[in-house]
Amino acid sequence: MTFAHGSTFGTDIQERAAALAAGFAPPELTHVFFVSGGSEAAETAIKLARQYWVDAARPGKYKIISKRASYHGATLGALSLSGFAARRAPYVPLLHAFPQIPEVHCRRCPFGLTYGRCAIECATALDEAIRREGADTVAAFIAEPVSGAANAAVVPPPEYFSVIREICDRHEVLLIADEVMTGFGRTGADFALDHWGVIPDLIVCAKGLGAGYVPIGAVIAHRRIADQIFRVSGQFVHGHTYAGNPLACATAAAVREYVRAHDLVAAARQKGEALRRELETLRTAPGVEEVRGLGLMWGVEFAAPPDHPASGAPGRAVVDAAFRNGLLVYPAGGALPGSPVNQILVGPPLTITDGELAELGTLLRRSVREAFA
Ligand SMILES: Cc1ncc(COP(=O)(O)O)c(C=O)c1O
Repeated sequence: MTFAHGSTFGTDIQERAAALAAGFAPPELTHVFFVSGGSEAAETAIKLARQYWVDAARPGKYKIISKRASYHGATLGALSLSGFAARRAPYVPLLHAFPQIPEVHCRRCPFGLTYGRCAIECATALDEAIRREGADTVAAFIAEPVSGAANAAVVPPPEYFSVIREICDRHEVLLIADEVMTGFGRTGADFALDHWGVIPDLIVCAKGLGAGYVPIGAVIAHRRIADQIFRVSGQFVHGHTYAGNPLACATAAAVREYVRAHDLVAAARQKGEALRRELETLRTAPGVEEVRGLGLMWGVEFAAPPDHPASGAPGRAVVDAAFRNGLLVYPAGGALPGSPVNQILVGPPLTITDGELAELGTLLRRSVREAFA
């Protein structure tokens, strides 16, 4: 049976997929709500955070703070949280005006500071934003642990998320980790926040959950949040026809079992080292400004000379050259107002072989050379 509406039926395969997905999260995160993709998962997390505070008799808490240079999805709630000027522009009047704090990016620090001689102002900005808004109005803070489409594979300083966690706890604000890109092994850990030992309240996930075989996403919630909603309201007031679809869940369960059986998270960590070595050879190539990343999620940022045809969108020029050479990479950047598409994301399959990694390196070096020739 491939369809059973969640309002009436539970299915064994949904339970199994939920247990397998939660098995990748910290043990405190026990409850899974399936949806059909990343944007739906972000919407679900917003509503879950809101209902948690309503059920806690704190109905004034509704704002969700996010970062500039971020992407959380295309639907109106998720887009409201996304600091991505180019994707927001036509829809601005429809979006919620939630507060945002500056992005994390040490090489181009929005505070003009230098890492090692700063006080992680990019994190403490959250404390200031919550105070400014009033903690009684703020429900949650959402962030990508390693940024994706908006700022290709920028990795925060190691203490960033523990500072964020402490600020959230102090102000009673939930921490939502958007692990749509980073989740399920991509960065060489089950979830990227594991790298820094930080436990979020909600995890938003999709992409790697179904690994491209089916449209599926999920929110994985802390036991405390689920327990309170069950105790007070009895149920989460939310749903989609295809939430927890048995066919999607069966596929996601099979993917999770395959990833564990083949130890693909450890493989991503090891292969990530080989990918790093390949990409670091680009550091000195003309046009390349920064190479950064974690595991099998890497970003390269470019600057073409002002009189060069690629100067308006050097990331796009590299993507096009790579496409002609048989290599698929993703154009990124353009998130800050007026900024160009000046980056690419490199995210090979977790099953990539050593030979294919070497080929990736060769094709990318050739493509960068051609784009800036
Ligand atoms: C971090 C992040 N969150 C949310 C989304 C939205 O997911 P979807 O495109 O599946 O709706 C994306 C998509 O790229 C993403 O990268």
